Parts: sequence; C-alpha cells; structure tokens
Amino acid sequence: MKNILVTGGAGFIGSNFVKYILENYNYYIINLDALTYAGNLENLKDLEEDFRYTFVKGDIRDREMVRQLFSKYSIDTVVNFAAESHVDRSITDPEVFLTTNIIGTQTLLDVAKDHWKLKPGDKYNREFKTGFKFLQVSTDEVYGSLGKEGIFTEKTPLSPNSPYSASKASADMVVRAYHETFGLPVNITRCSNNYGPYQFPEKLIPLIINNSNHNKSLPVYGDGLQIRDWLHVKDHCRGIDSVLHKGAIGEVYNIGGNNEKANIEIVKLILENLHKPETLITFVEDRPGHDRRYAIDNTKITTQLGWCPSYTFEQGIGETIQWYLDNEEWLAKVTSGEYLNYYSKMY
Ligand code: NAD
Ligand code: TYD
Repeated sequence: MKNILVTGGAGFIGSNFVKYILENYNYYIINLDALTYAGNLENLKDLEEDFRYTFVKGDIRDREMVRQLFSKYSIDTVVNFAAESHVDRSITDPEVFLTTNIIGTQTLLDVAKDHWKLKPGDKYNREFKTGFKFLQVSTDEVYGSLGKEGIFTEKTPLSPNSPYSASKASADMVVRAYHETFGLPVNITRCSNNYGPYQFPEKLIPLIINNSNHNKSLPVYGDGLQIRDWLHVKDHCRGIDSVLHKGAIGEVYNIGGNNEKANIEIVKLILENLHKPETLITFVEDRPGHDRRYAIDNTKITTQLGWCPSYTFEQGIGETIQWYLDNEEWLAKVTSGEYLNYYSKMY
C-alpha cells in the first residue's frame, strides 16, 4: 500500500496516470492541482466515488499547505507532474514557468526531505525511510535539438532551448542535487511527446483534430518538417509505473516510442482520417528557437526494467481521433474562457 501524492493530476498525463494507478493497484492517491487553464476536474469525474482518491486544490509552491498534506496523508511517494507545459506560452509568458516548474519542484523536494528523513534534526543525515520515492516527470526537451542524425540517451548533456525546457532542465538539476547532497531517493523520467485522451487542445495533435473537425485552418509552424517522437499517454503511464516500482534510486530513465514523425506527416494523417482537404493547412511563422528534431534512445528502460510501448501509432492515433470526436462536450468545457482569449491574441 502506498500513499501517493500526484501533483498536476487534473492535467493531461496526470489524470491518465491517476486512473491507471487506481485500475492497477490498491493505493491511495492525493491529487494536488492548482486547476490552471490546463487542469480540469472533468478529466477525473468518474473517480468521485472512489474512497482511495482525494482531490486537493492547491499550488505546489505553497510550502505550508504541502507540509500539511504530507502530515495529514502520510505521503510516502511523490509523482510530480505539476507544471506549466506549453512551449508557446513559455515564449509569451516565461515567468510562471520558472516559478512553478523550478521553485514548485524545489518546494516539494524540501518538504519530502524533511518528512522522510530518518533523523530529522541531523543536517548531515542521508538516510531515508525505505520504499519512499520522489519521481520527477520530465521531458526529452531538456536535451535540446538534434539534427538529421543522433539520438538522446540519458547521458546526453542538457541543452534546453525554450523557457519551458530550460525550466524543466533546471528542475531536473535540483532533483539531482537533492539526491547527491541529501541522499533523497529520487528518479527522473524523460519522456517524448505524448498523445491520447484528455490532452488540452493547444498541443499539436488535439488542436489539429479539433480544427479539422470544424473545418478551421491548421497552423503549421515553419516548413512543418520538425520531428517529434510520439508515445501514447497510456504507455507513458506504464513507463512511470515501471520506474516507480523498479527504478534504481538516483537514476534517470528515458521513455520513448521509437516513433519519429514530421509534424506535417501527422497533420496529413489526421486530415486523411477525417476525410478533410489539405487546403485547410496554413503554414505560419515559425516558433522562435524551435527545436528541429527529438529522438529518444529507450534502451535503458526496456532492457533494465522490461518496459516497452504497447500501442502502434496507427492504433493510438485512430483511437485518439475517435476519442476527440466522441468528446465534443469535454472539448467545449475545457476550451471555454482563457484558452480562446490566448489564441485570439496569437493569430
Ligand atoms: P498539462 O499542462 O496538461 O497539466 C499540468 C497540470 O499541472 C494541470 O492540471 C495544472 O492545473 C497543474 N499545475 C500547473 N501549475 C501548478 C501549480 N503551481 N501547482 C499545482 N498544480 C499546477 O501537462 P501534461 O501534458 O499533462 O504534462 C504533465 C507533466 O509531464 C509536465 O511536468 C510535463 O513537463 C511533462 N511531460 C509532458 C509531455 C507531453 O507531451 N505533454 C511529455 C513529456 C513530459
Ligand atoms: P506541441 O504539441 O506544442 O509540443 P512540443 O512543442 O512540446 O513538442 O508541438 C509539437 C510540434 O508541432 C512542435 O514542433 C510545434 C508544432 N506545432 C505546429 O506546427 N502548429 C501548432 O499549432 C502547434 C501547437 C504545434
């Protein structure tokens, strides 16, 4: 039995993860989420009756509240999803990325350190209760950009290019420092681009599905030949599960789908699937500092922990398109308000 603090559990990956864990384990989950524009309790409404699940609205930067949660719920595991996650927003409004993604992570680390230490008064104590773990959910974007060749391994130096990826890389460094300096039991996962149900429709795949479905223009940045590695969110959740239960303390694990696709390929695939014309595509000004290519070497997690992706892209994208078509009501709810204001400013 674990008492897991999942932060950012009302967002895209966090909400999939909360459901995945409750379907597969008899654990308690405390979901701490500030409910920014990206966090929606709609994503979790099926869980309202589950006694193993508690939602707390709050900010990971609020140290006193986080401290109280650790005491009240005897937290023994943290899976930190909470973040500002959209690169375009980090270009127009970087500051909140730095405070949430870096200071928020450091606040959680500090509170975990104080609660999990075997000798709380001793500042040189490096012993922690066994079975406790802080898992930082990070991204392949911390490694920067690849040219035509090459692949990110866990040993690739961090070289972030956007305020978003710089904030995530900084958080990774702080997590590493808490392990090296204080002995805090940590893992870091670095995953490639996720797709699947409940993704906020500002990210490429849900945006293109939604716009195509409503015959709106499809903004493709630059030449559209940037490459991302795509992984179904449920495979990401299974990867985090493997690291949580089997990952060696202090280690970083890449999680990737061996599934590199150019953006324009994805856009055309969605159009084809929805029987919509390519005339909807509009090439727009490129994103500043736009990373050209990401590719992940997932040898470590596959060989050491036995994880591998279960979805083919064809299956995953088909199911995802269908999910968005079947969940127009969800789309309407999550996109009312702030999202629309943001996009009316951008285009
Ligand atoms: P998301 O934007 O959908 O969700 C983020 C969640 O964090 C939201 O529910 C939001 O309300 C919450 N949040 C934001 N600021 C907060 C704060 N200060 N305190 C508490 N909660 C706060 O993001 P996502 O796509 O689900 O990503 C989750 C994590 O996974 C992030 O850390 C992201 O960096 C990482 N990641 C995402 C991808 C991807 O493709 N989406 C890939 C690799 C890693
Ligand atoms: P995105 O989903 O924002 O993820 P990330 O930037 O974290 O990889 O974007 C995926 C790719 O799609 C990225 O190369 C930027 C591009 N893109 C577009 O071309 N048009 C769009 O409207 C969006 C949102 C993204």
